Amino acid sequence: MIPVIAIDGPSASGKGTVAERVAQSLGFHFLDSGALYRLVALAAGRSGISMGDTTALEKLAANLDVRFYQGNIYLNNQLVTDDIRSEICSRHASLAAAIPGVRTALLTRQRAFREAPGLVADGRDMGSVVFPDAVLKVFLTADPKIRAHRRYNQLMNKGIPASMQSLLWDIEERDTRDESRTVAPLKRGNALLLDTTTLTIQQAVDQVLAWFAEAQPGLS
Ligand code: CDP
Repeated sequence: MIPVIAIDGPSASGKGTVAERVAQSLGFHFLDSGALYRLVALAAGRSGISMGDTTALEKLAANLDVRFYQGNIYLNNQLVTDDIRSEICSRHASLAAAIPGVRTALLTRQRAFREAPGLVADGRDMGSVVFPDAVLKVFLTADPKIRAHRRYNQLMNKGIPASMQSLLWDIEERDTRDESRTVAPLKRGNALLLDTTTLTIQQAVDQVLAWFAEAQPGLS
């Protein structure tokens, strides 16, 4: 059985960075499942599909022409790695993610990332829905103000303009939507809690690696 480490948690908690580094360190594949919802949002915007048009969004999700290659993401052969990180895409991704048909359409695509020697999967429902048999499930979180600050720095580094206050509102609004939706809501369940409010990225990575070593002795 190919081992999966599921890392779920709320927006801007740093799970993407932590998950990617854990994957690098173990030589595992990496799934950024949020990118798929962001791609649906971006593709919808580019095709003039409104976020209220459920049927069109489901169809779009089922037929997305996406390629993940060497750390970059391509939609219809166009580079969109940075485009999907805009705040409008974040908001629209969270709306698309609440549509059950969109989630179902993306399931097979996500499971296809499970390849030897292993996978680190980052998202909201990796441990609960997509990979319920994951050998390690982590719920990675941090205080909302710290998360807004981290997102602010991330956007500034990419030269994308942002305001701290609107980022904080946005994060809180998305948290509420992700936690209260009827399909695959964000919840900790039986995952191990990793609060990174006062941790560095490396400390968080080391903790996940230590848990994995306990869960799967011999593989780490
Ligand atoms: O970067 P951030 O943590 O803010 O978001 P993301 O992981 O890129 O995910 C964008 C949006 O997709 C989230 O707000 C969720 O609503 C949704 N999502 C989801 O529903 N399920 C997943 N497995 C991953 C993301």
